[in-house]
Amino acid sequence: MRRILVTAALPYSNGSIHLGHLLEHIQTDIWVRFQKLSGNECYFICAEDTHGTATMIGAEEAGVPPEIWVEELRQQHIADFDAFAIGHDNYYTTHSPENEHFAREIYTKLKDNDAIYTANVEQLYDTEKELFLADRYVRGTCPRCGAEDQPGDNCDNCGATYAATELKNPRSAHTNATPVLRSSTHYFFNLPKFEDFLRSWTESGTVRPEIANKLKEWLDGGMKAWDISRDAPYFGFRIPDTDDKYFYVWLDAPMGYMASFQNWCDRAGINFDDFWNKDSQAEVHHFIGKDIVNFHALFWPAVLHCAGYRTPTSVRVHGMITVNGEKMSKSRGTFINASTFHEVLDPDTLRYYYGARLNASMADIDVSFEDFVSRVNSDLIGKFVNIPSRCANFLQRHFDSILSTKLVLPELYEEFAAKQQLIEDLYEEGETSKVVREVMTLADRANQYIANNPPWELAKTSGREQEVQAVCTMAINLFRTLCVYLKPIVPGLVSRSEQYLNAGELKWNDVNEPLLGHQLAPFKRLMSRIDLKQINKIINASRDTSTGDSDNQQSNSEKIELAEFQKVDLRVAQIENASVVEGADKLLKLELKVGTESRTVFAGIRSAYEPADLIGRFVVVVANLKPRKMRFGTSEGMVLAAGPGDKDIFLLSPDEGAVTGMEVS
Ligand code: MSP
Ligand code: ZN
Repeated sequence: MRRILVTAALPYSNGSIHLGHLLEHIQTDIWVRFQKLSGNECYFICAEDTHGTATMIGAEEAGVPPEIWVEELRQQHIADFDAFAIGHDNYYTTHSPENEHFAREIYTKLKDNDAIYTANVEQLYDTEKELFLADRYVRGTCPRCGAEDQPGDNCDNCGATYAATELKNPRSAHTNATPVLRSSTHYFFNLPKFEDFLRSWTESGTVRPEIANKLKEWLDGGMKAWDISRDAPYFGFRIPDTDDKYFYVWLDAPMGYMASFQNWCDRAGINFDDFWNKDSQAEVHHFIGKDIVNFHALFWPAVLHCAGYRTPTSVRVHGMITVNGEKMSKSRGTFINASTFHEVLDPDTLRYYYGARLNASMADIDVSFEDFVSRVNSDLIGKFVNIPSRCANFLQRHFDSILSTKLVLPELYEEFAAKQQLIEDLYEEGETSKVVREVMTLADRANQYIANNPPWELAKTSGREQEVQAVCTMAINLFRTLCVYLKPIVPGLVSRSEQYLNAGELKWNDVNEPLLGHQLAPFKRLMSRIDLKQINKIINASRDTSTGDSDNQQSNSEKIELAEFQKVDLRVAQIENASVVEGADKLLKLELKVGTESRTVFAGIRSAYEPADLIGRFVVVVANLKPRKMRFGTSEGMVLAAGPGDKDIFLLSPDEGAVTGMEVS
């Protein structure tokens, strides 16, 4: 049995858990559930990352002490993760006595080993707020392109990177005051000292080759010492033997993995040292996003190595989430929080979708809502859930839900069971998209089997009724094997399936023994189909509840000039005919009269209007939109409407007296 400690990156205590965090925690949770299911000793540890200026300011603005602020967020985050069945064994906080202990202890060891030195640093200082300004709290004019109101590290307009001191007309984001340069002593960790160690560590299988290569580029480019101190005021741990210096949040954040684990060991009776001693035989795996690789694969192993602890077995890196091809955005409603999602949809739908998309690479993952809906409906429900749905009734009605005592087609059952080793390897490597593909191929086989031996036909054919039980017993057993395979990915759905199977919790080895001569529980619907309306609801709610995100206020570059707007030709049109579109339940096909011209326009307003009610109505159309080829025909314009969607879509109607073809201004 392996002993494994697994971590996901510690979310900052400065906002809600969103789709991006969920990708990481679902990925990690799938891996942990797989390890536990297959019998390994495995712990999933996480915590709030509480320290730093952002927390300090956030708490100040909320008018509560930072300790209370981070605890409130921790409780919210725990509730969000619980809703998605993320099975952290401990979700602690970096603002803990355990973490302070590790920060001091490790720092002291670094110092004893000559890896700490001090140097003066000149930095922008806000004299009103009496605070040194981190780069993102300085705003000013880009030194390269002249764009105004740019942050102190890189320009959103031209992409230039620079030091905050290079900004023209700099000002403090807190007070708008003009900052001054001020010098202060900082503490540095002498990273270059560990170059040799890092070269061999990064090339010893701890990270995938693509990351090792990237790290090699950094190492070849020459390493700099790492600034690990911040001046007061700062929310964090004070550096021993100083009055006004604090550990930089990124120094004690990874130590939070150890601190949270220590806290868990104390409560669960586990020996901490077995996992963190220099010669520990246990495994430690960190799951992170690609934006924080240097912290986990350079600074962190060097610190651990220097302080005499073991280093991680692996650092597993995923890519970033985009939504419908773009960065998550509050103004577009695609910055979706965990709570908004699970109020509308079963969290297992997201777990399944992420599972179907995740692999061991750090490629970014685009969440396309159409793809999401179609995979959940046609694969998870249409293939997997479909198996028991097609059989349960017949077993119940004719056989009191009792399975036959033997399998009619043991070779088919064996074929399913024989995939176990492959699926195990795929889980281990983090190739969950391939797990899902294998399982769905098997689900197709199972459905094919049912279709070739249809219980609904057999039940009607005299003399063949007994075959119904045999076929359903086969199908239910194939389904049960797939339940085992999918259990780490969709634990809620599989738990409902376990209730139906009525034989306790499924274990990894259960695929070796079919379930025979056994009475199933009454069948209840396992999962419902989803649709785009639910997604729209989530998007609308995400737009409403968003607060404080700068992309709420569109930056100047997103606004359009009047001249651009004037290109849009808005005209009054009259609906001459309206009809439903076969195969598209959101659309109506509208025949419009615009002046003397007739146009066909497809509009996504089916949920709010009966076609007959629309005939004769005046509407406003964009008359000069390029015709768009759709699956059902070509749309020659766009009808303007407003509203949150569903039943509430309001067509923009011209005032009385309007005539078709009239220009709208
Ligand atoms: N607090 C640090 C981590 C400290 S670990 C010792 C941090 N926090 S974070 O809240 O910004 O991000 C936490 C994790 O979520 C990171 O691994 C990050 O990559 C991941 N994600 C945050 N947004 C993401 C996406 N849009 N897409 C995918 N993952 C992203 O960094
Ligand atoms: Zn610029």
